[in-house]
Formats: sequence, C-alpha cells, structure tokens
Amino acid sequence: MKIGIDKIGFATGRYVLNMDQLAIARQTDPDKFTKGLMLDRISITPITEDIVTLAATAAETILDQEDKEKIDMVILATESSIDQSKAASVYVHHLLKIQPFARSIEIKEACYSATAALDYAKAHISLNPDSRVLVIASDIAKYGIKSAGEPTQGSGSVAILVKADPAIAIINNDNVAQTRDVMDFWRPNYSSTPYVNGIFSTKQYLDSLKTTWKEYQSRQKAQVTDFAAFCFHIPFPKLAFKGLNKLFDKETPAEHKKQLSSAFEASITYSRQVGNIYTGSLYMSLLSLLENCQALQSGDKIGMFSYGSGAVSEIYSIQLVDGYQSRLEANRQAYLDQRQEISVNDYESIFYADNPVDQEGNARFGDYLTGTFALKAIQEHQRIYEKNDK
Ligand code: HMG
Repeated sequence: MKIGIDKIGFATGRYVLNMDQLAIARQTDPDKFTKGLMLDRISITPITEDIVTLAATAAETILDQEDKEKIDMVILATESSIDQSKAASVYVHHLLKIQPFARSIEIKEACYSATAALDYAKAHISLNPDSRVLVIASDIAKYGIKSAGEPTQGSGSVAILVKADPAIAIINNDNVAQTRDVMDFWRPNYSSTPYVNGIFSTKQYLDSLKTTWKEYQSRQKAQVTDFAAFCFHIPFPKLAFKGLNKLFDKETPAEHKKQLSSAFEASITYSRQVGNIYTGSLYMSLLSLLENCQALQSGDKIGMFSYGSGAVSEIYSIQLVDGYQSRLEANRQAYLDQRQEISVNDYESIFYADNPVDQEGNARFGDYLTGTFALKAIQEHQRIYEKNDK
C-alpha cells in the first residue's frame, strides 16, 4: 500500500522582526545574522497565540469535511507544551470539529518528534487503510533576550494529512534513526527558555547527520545521486547548508551538486523569513522546496534529515507523485508578507509578556494579531480558545 503526505498546511506568527533591526539593537554586525546564520526575518507570536492556535490555523487551511469525518487520529508533535497532562491535540481536535471517534495525543523529542509521528501515522494506516491521520508539528522557539540563540527564534506549525494513495508524496520504508544521549539543548520543566551548548549542538547536528547518512547509505545501498533534493531540520539555514555539503564526496558529480544546491536554496526560502519552528522546521523546508523549486518532477526522491536535540536523528525518503503541484499554494509569499513588522522594543514586550493568572486562575488578554484561532482568556485555569470572526 502507498501511504504518505496528502496535504500540507502552514501557519506562523502574525508579527515579524527584521534581523537587521535586531543586529543593530544588539550592537552586532547585521551580516552576522543575514550571512553568518542566513536569516532575514523571524516570526513573533503574542500571548494570544500558542501551539494550539498555530496548529488549528495550519490544519484549517487544508482539511475539508470528508477529511474531518475520516480522521481517526490527531498527533501533535511539540516541545512548547502548554500543559503537562492534557494533550494540545485534544483542543485542536475540538476546534477543527473532527469526528469524535478519534485518538488524540501529543508527542515529544525536541525538534524530531513529528518524524516519529509520521511513522506512527503510516503504521496506523497500513492496518486501517481507510483512515486519515492528522500530524501537526507546532512550536514557538524562544531563547533569552541577548542570548546567542536569540536570532534563531521563530514560531509556526505545519499540518500534514497522511493517508493511503496520497496526492503529494509517498513515504518510503527506508527510515534509519539514531539516538545519542547528549546535553546540547534542553529545557527543564522550571524554565521557559532552553539551556543551550550552542557550538556543541551544531557539532552534534552535523555528526548525527554524517553518521546516520553513512548507516542509511550502507543499509539502503543509496548514493547522493539517487536524490533530486534533500530537506533538513533547519535551526538556522547556514547549519543546514553545512549539512548539505557533508553529503557530498569526491565522487559526487559537479552537475548533481549544482542541482542539489539549487534545490536547497528553494528549501530555505521560508526558513530565512520565519526562523526556527522546532518540530515543524524540516516540514516547512519540504513545503518551501515543493513550492519554490521548479526543477522537481513527479517520481523524484527527496531525502529527509530530522534532528532533535538530546539527541535523536533520522533519515528517510519520500517520492513525489503525479500532480503533486496541484496541492500547493501558488503564492505563500503573500501570507508571509502580510505579517506586521515590529520594532525590537515591541518584540521584547510582545514576545516576553508574562501570563500571570490571578488567584482564581483568571487572565484576560489584549488584542493582538493571530491566525484563524486565538487564546482569548484563561478562566479558572482553563484555556479558552475562539475562532476569529474574520
Ligand atoms: P553565534 O554566537 O552566532 O556563533 O552562535 P558564531 O560566532 O559561530 O557565528 C555564527 C556564524 O556567523 C559563523 O559562521 C560566523 O563565521 C558568522 P560559520 O563560521 O559557522 O560558517 N559570522 C559572520 N558572517 C558574516 N559577517 C559577520 C559575521 N560574524 C560572524 N560579521 C549558535 C551561533 C548556533 C551557537 C547560536 O545561534 C545558538 O546558540 N543557537 C541556538 C542553538 C542552535 O540553533 N543549535 C543548532 C543545532 S541543535 C538543533 O538543531 C536543535 C534545535 O532546533 C532544538 C531542538 O531540537 O529542539 C536548536
């Protein structure tokens, strides 16, 4: 049975911070961010936007009534949980009006877990061929003000509908995963921002890529020339660029290097303007590739490198199907351009606004721009979401 990606939806914060402005405020050379990290802008979310609103907004753009009647599992992959017990997918299931006889769970392993979610979705559909599974990667990447990680923040969700006979890509059965216990990036329950060994984390990312790729090559008898493109987890595009170059060796034909490099440029178009969205980063890179690379065609194989700190990495491949282009947005750039640009001062007050509930567990929030759904209030410690009118 052919199982894979049938639809992909995307949502990101409705405010945007320009990297040149941040560089000036931090007394840094703007080239460090735009050339050194290859980041131009990052999405910023206010207090009324969280992993639930982003996830529901992303999924609402792709689901039709038939999907909502056939989805029997909603998996939300995140490392920005809003609750230690209740899964964010339960709220999303409700907001999207998905039929009730569905399983809803949340899963975690830093930026990696959406890849595990897709594999679980595939296994579920292989046993239940008529089912549709909604996998959503949703995160808000928040580092400390003036920290090294500050320019690599971002926010967003990628919603993927998985089913048999998919319209975009088949997920192949060739996954190779690797786990190594390292402290490169982690966030204890008592901290709202992560602890990061920045340079060490980049080394772990690249070494995980190199060693997982070697194992993948040996198990799958694969060559870099088998692939029309590679997508990477993108904490910031420069690291993925280094990753791409790790896949080349002296045998790689110059022409193929050129093809993969040009596909890579297409795959970072959105990351450059959104920043790190943790679990969704790899899948935003796929969306960016599909919507911006004219050279791709059906039948092409795309290599996927997933990485989550801690660390778990995985390489697998997907195969584009006939007519995949019809499922994509013609002008997603317009959606990115509609974000409201904010000053560094506004970013600091919007992004780091505290969320104090009063003694009864109540909080009301001001009016901010959000996607289709917003967190309106907290009442007696319960989060109240609403669909925006417009
Ligand atoms: P930094 O202080 O910006 O490091 O921190 P840097 O001084 O090495 O500079 C970065 C690059 O800018 C370098 O490029 C410099 O040369 C260049 P490179 O040499 O590496 O090619 N540069 C300039 N270029 C042009 N003009 C200039 C200039 N100045 C410098 N004037 C660091 C970088 C990654 C450490 C920081 O951003 C950070 O801590 N980020 C957060 C952690 C992170 O993203 N790690 C990535 C791997 S871990 C991962 O991917 C998982 C993650 O997504 C989380 C999860 O899984 O949950 C993070």
